[in-house]
Amino acid sequence: SRIAVFASGQGSNFAALIQAQNAGKLGGGRIELLVSDRPEALVAQRAEEAGIPALLLRPKDFASRELYEAEIVAELQRRDIGLVVLAGYMRLITPVLLTPYAGRIINIHPSLLPAFAGKDAIGQALDYGVKLTGVTVHFVDGGMDTGPVIAQRGVAVEAEDTAETLAGRIHQVEYELYPEVVSAFAAGKIGLDGRKATISE
Ligand code: GRF
Repeated sequence: SRIAVFASGQGSNFAALIQAQNAGKLGGGRIELLVSDRPEALVAQRAEEAGIPALLLRPKDFASRELYEAEIVAELQRRDIGLVVLAGYMRLITPVLLTPYAGRIINIHPSLLPAFAGKDAIGQALDYGVKLTGVTVHFVDGGMDTGPVIAQRGVAVEAEDTAETLAGRIHQVEYELYPEVVSAFAAGKIGLDGRKATISE
C-alpha cells in the first residue's frame, strides 16, 4: 500500500513508522507522503530529513474545511495513496476525505477507547485514577476518536507515574503497535464490516 501519514506536531510516531519501514517491518507498506496542517511543526522537518514529500497547508488559507480537504484529496489521488495513517493529526475529518477513503483511514490514540477520547488522554487517565490505560488503533469516522477498534494494548499505571513517565511508556507501545497494524493492513488482513473491524491471520 502507498501510505500518507497525517500529523500536526512532534511526529514521533511518524519517525517510528519510517524506522519500521527502513527495518523492513512495514510489510508491503510504503510511506509516500506527509500531510501536515502546521507547516512549522517538527514533523515537517522530520519528513524533509527522511526525504519524504510533504504537503504542508494552513487550513486558515482556505475558505472552508471542505476546500482544505479537497486539496489534500487531490494530492492523495495524484500519488495513488491507498492508506491514510493519522498520527497526532489534531483535526476532525470531513466526508470530503472520509467518503473516498472509507475503510482506509486509521488513527492511533493514547488510551483504551472509548475511555478518554479527545485531548490529553494521558492526563485524563491520571486524573481519573485508572490502573490500566493503553493505546488504541481504530478506523476513523467523523467523530473524535470514535471509529471501529482495530487493535488495543494495555499499559499499567504505576502509583508513582507522572504525565511524563506514563506518556513515555505509552509512546513506546505506540511505536510498536502502529507499524504492526500498518503492516497487517498492507497485507490485506484488516477490513471493515459495517461497524466492526475485521482482522484475519
Ligand atoms: C500520540 O500519542 C498519538 O497517540 C496521539 O497524538 C500523539 C502524537 O505524538 N494521537 P507524535 O506527534 O507522534 O509524537
